[in-house]
Amino acid sequence: MMKSLLCWPEPVIRVQSLSASGILEIPERYIKSPSHRPSLNNDVSQPQEVDVPVIDFQNLFSSEQGLCDEALRCVHNACLEWGFFQVVNHGVSHELMKRTSEVWHEFFNLPLEEKQKYANTPATYEGYGSRVGVEKGASLDWSDYFFLLLMPLSLVNQNKWPATPASCRELVAEYGGEVVRLGGKLMKVLSMNLGLEEDSLLNAFGGEENVGACLRVNYYPKCPQPDLALGLSPHSDPGGLTILLPDENVAGLQVCKNDSWITVKPVPNAFIINIGDQIQVLSNAIYQSVEHRVIVNSNEDRVSLALFYNPKSDLLLKPCEKLLTKDRPALYKPMTYDEYRLTIRTKGPCGKKQVESLKSIRQSD
Ligand code: OGA
Ligand code: NI
Repeated sequence: MMKSLLCWPEPVIRVQSLSASGILEIPERYIKSPSHRPSLNNDVSQPQEVDVPVIDFQNLFSSEQGLCDEALRCVHNACLEWGFFQVVNHGVSHELMKRTSEVWHEFFNLPLEEKQKYANTPATYEGYGSRVGVEKGASLDWSDYFFLLLMPLSLVNQNKWPATPASCRELVAEYGGEVVRLGGKLMKVLSMNLGLEEDSLLNAFGGEENVGACLRVNYYPKCPQPDLALGLSPHSDPGGLTILLPDENVAGLQVCKNDSWITVKPVPNAFIINIGDQIQVLSNAIYQSVEHRVIVNSNEDRVSLALFYNPKSDLLLKPCEKLLTKDRPALYKPMTYDEYRLTIRTKGPCGKKQVESLKSIRQSD
């Protein structure tokens, strides 16, 4: 298995180059089977009535008990019902968010040769990439990305981050620091809502110094046949929590809710938060990761910054003892995140198949 992760199974094609070539029909590899195409479950003539909850994060730390309790309850319900929510007043500088997003727009607008210096391999995925998964002949998504490590500090190598634009490394380091801090606060909020000590989830992830964090900047070029393709196929995030800065001007993220796809409307200056598979494991499925995907359009490119807040990769993760009862024993066997993420890194996005298979292993023990 490790050997197959050393190189890509076929020549890498940059989706941005395909898009820029002016083709009117997308290559076969990007055409989804009819049941996976975006238009099917998505009747645009029917405006959606529901939307992902928006939380005022500041209220969670209010000295006014009523406000604080109400905000905690909102987060809890969002975790139970959606696995997704947006946060405003989250404490991260809006100016920094804007500048970091802009610098990545600039990076993707650099000439191809400049970006190719950072071409990645499936060995670590760090750098400039155009696919996830190494299966030859697999269906591909309409996006390129840049993936880099932010935490733990011992694994950070800024030489692998873009040297141009000149401010990129500094901005990414500052942005990473602030968003990781927000991730730590979210972990406390989720712990309290689960009835655990406030440091429980964070400690299970290895503690503040040891958690993993990485940034995946997604670039979704405009697509001449958006009804046939997806920017990112349905998946749940394998890690702990995801803190997404979506494109201010272009929607695209869709969340699966009651078997239909809801397009998230980004609130200005908000982050979109979602539960990953490892929180599902630790909470023994009280909180569950939720499938999501990205649609593309023919008019505009879209850039999003996904910061993944993950466990220390060599720790064994299993459901918290305190959440186990006789009626609801542990649903998942212990596994390290290193082992867990090999599946998505090999097979690419597969909905919620992986975390669900972990469950069935345990139940048939
Ligand atoms: C991801 C993801 C959503 C988006 O990177 O895992 O779900 O809007 N991104 O780009
Ligand atoms: Ni995701």
